[in-house]
Amino acid sequence: MDIKVNPTRELKAKPEDESNLGFGEIVTDHMFQMDYEAGKGWINPRIVPYGNLSIDPAAMALHYGQEIFEGLKAYRGTDSAIYLFRPEENYKRFNRSATRLCMPEVDVDQVMEATKQLILLDQDWVPTTQGTSLYIRPTMIATEPHLGVRPADEYLLFIIIGPVGAYYKEGLNPVKIYVEDNYVRASIGGTGESKAAGNYASSLLAAEEAKKKGFTQVLWLDAAERKYVEEVGTMNMFFVIDGEVIGAPLTGSILPGITRDSVIRIVKNWGITMSERSLTIDEVIEAARDGRLQEAFGTGTAAVISPVGQITYKGEDHVVAGGKMGELSQRLYDEIVGIQYGEKEDPYGWRIKIN
Ligand code: COI
Repeated sequence: MDIKVNPTRELKAKPEDESNLGFGEIVTDHMFQMDYEAGKGWINPRIVPYGNLSIDPAAMALHYGQEIFEGLKAYRGTDSAIYLFRPEENYKRFNRSATRLCMPEVDVDQVMEATKQLILLDQDWVPTTQGTSLYIRPTMIATEPHLGVRPADEYLLFIIIGPVGAYYKEGLNPVKIYVEDNYVRASIGGTGESKAAGNYASSLLAAEEAKKKGFTQVLWLDAAERKYVEEVGTMNMFFVIDGEVIGAPLTGSILPGITRDSVIRIVKNWGITMSERSLTIDEVIEAARDGRLQEAFGTGTAAVISPVGQITYKGEDHVVAGGKMGELSQRLYDEIVGIQYGEKEDPYGWRIKIN
């Protein structure tokens, strides 16, 4: 793929204090874009200065929600190299999301190439401080102006990037989660396993209500019975009960996380009992009451491994792992981060060096 590069004339100032980057606040100098037209396929791949988009107010993404995205990161190793972590998995999931929302697939090799070129052009933006990285947000929107309900014939794919720190203000400190037994995020047969913008929109009200009560996130239960634990919107969840690590199975309503998959493989590789099985909230709460819930943690690209220190269900607070980061959570964090930043052996072949 021949990517046309139009470099910016005005380089922005880079953040001076990398200890305080937050998440999703800063973008770099450039972005990648590519158009799709039915009959022509993907055309006009280009890297251009970061800036506003101009789209028709009748663009179908704005009306019927044909919008999907991905989230991955570039890591600066202590050797100054820049690494990606299982990036093809993100683009394969992007294509699965596209298919679910009647949007066109992309060529994984081409978007990988575009991602690498964009990062290399803006490589001085990849932060060096521990716990920081360059977040990469590939996005596809339907741009065809049309108000009848059907899949659009025109799309824009763009990739924007920016330096980030921890996703939660808690950093690696345990988060408090509220078990949501009123609203639901997604149901089997819906779009819950796609990385579709609409899934996030439908999660906001519950998250806002929980935030007002002092919680970081909500833990979603299944839509049909409000009985089984699903995910935490920005993370997949794992519970350690009586030495068994349990994560919800991929039944269609939860996001098939790449960090989730990595955790499952590492835990199995370590010889720890790992079960992908339906787990009722009652089982979790009972284990918490009996002191058998040893740990709970979330996994995600943005959140990495995020320990849960408190679970609140039906007005009852349950402290997990003494409100501290559990031993397994810490070990998994060290292993995954060590692989991502090029500090540990990568027996799984997950790390890609791009410079
Ligand atoms: C990610 O982990 O990359 C996500 O996309 C979660 C959230 C920031 C939307």
